[in-house]
Amino acid sequence: MIEFDKVKKIYPDGTEAIREFSLKVQAGEIVTLIGPSGCGKTTAMKMVNRLIEPTAGDIYINEQKVNSYNIHELRWNIGYVLQEIALFPHMTIGENISVVPEMKKWKGKKVKKRIDELLEMVGLDPTTYQKRMPRELSGGQQQRIGVVRALAADPDIILMDEPFSALDPISREQLQTDIKTLQKEIKKTILFVTHDMDEAMALGDRVCLMKDGEIVQLDTPQQLILNPKTEFVRNFIGERKSPWQTAVDVICDPLSSHVLTKEAFEQGNFDQNVTYIVTDRNNMYEGVVSKGTIKPEFLTLENDLPLYKATALIQQQDTQHLFPVIKQGKLIGVLSNKKIVEYLRSKTTLENGVIQ
Ligand SMILES: Nc1ncnc2c1ncn2[C@@H]1O[C@H](COP(=O)(O)OP(=O)(O)O)[C@@H](O)[C@H]1O
Ligand SMILES: [Mg+2]
Repeated sequence: MIEFDKVKKIYPDGTEAIREFSLKVQAGEIVTLIGPSGCGKTTAMKMVNRLIEPTAGDIYINEQKVNSYNIHELRWNIGYVLQEIALFPHMTIGENISVVPEMKKWKGKKVKKRIDELLEMVGLDPTTYQKRMPRELSGGQQQRIGVVRALAADPDIILMDEPFSALDPISREQLQTDIKTLQKEIKKTILFVTHDMDEAMALGDRVCLMKDGEIVQLDTPQQLILNPKTEFVRNFIGERKSPWQTAVDVICDPLSSHVLTKEAFEQGNFDQNVTYIVTDRNNMYEGVVSKGTIKPEFLTLENDLPLYKATALIQQQDTQHLFPVIKQGKLIGVLSNKKIVEYLRSKTTLENGVIQ
């Protein structure tokens, strides 16, 4: 666990890089730090492994202040990946990976085993790759080594400062996938700096959006998109709302012919072959007509439920095809499977079935 408690950093020249920063990264969590250039991301990160000392406030790792640790042990126990691929050029890949384990005086056999394990983890054949020199690898492969090198001595905590920003989009995406897959197994506590919102959203369990040395919003990617706190957040996120995040009340049909008043029902004034959703005279939802009676035990959807959640409920229904959308007990529309398909298709650019 990493905790920043009211941390400030003023550089000697008077630059207030971090004004007020409190953040807890839970064990096993990835928090992505994002914000405009110069907002203090690198400064915040470097205070964790004490490459920079805070001016005020405290930083804790596993509830112990970072400055109470032996600085070497602190750094060996924190994996650190930088933007620039910083492999030692005159060492083989195997030697690069084993730097920290060697410092920690691991036995030769254990180190060798670890090198094989790590190379396999990122899909590089150990026999082929451990003897190679960094220059004999592509940029993406080198950065992959940068990542596993940070994992080598099995640290609890990993700091990554824009680790993929120098890479081409394909390598970047591949490495993002690597990290996500790896994280499922290794469950590290990761602070990940990026300036790419897609990357921040894809990797972060939570995203910490910063501006001028302060946190503007710290939230799950979903919440950032659905409930941006300020105009700045909204602009920073941009128009990236996925159609799956649209609330059901936006797409439901408010004038559906499948709605029946209770009075009409009681008068038998309806088509026996059609499914109806029944409301009282105040438009309060009553139930669905099934086999001649009104039954309440059907799935209803709250008006602000996003589609990705609604569809998870809908797919469990075998016989129901019309879904009442309810706001505070009132029926505000009807959602059908057809409406959902139409909406998603209209919002997705489909070219030969490939999502653009
Ligand atoms: N050693 C330093 N001395 C003075 N100012 C610095 C130093 N390092 C960074 N800064 C300033 O602190 C602010 C935050 O920088 P930084 O943490 O690198 O931001 P980011 O990583 O978000 O781009 C910037 O205004 C930067 O110019
Ligand atoms: Mg930076």
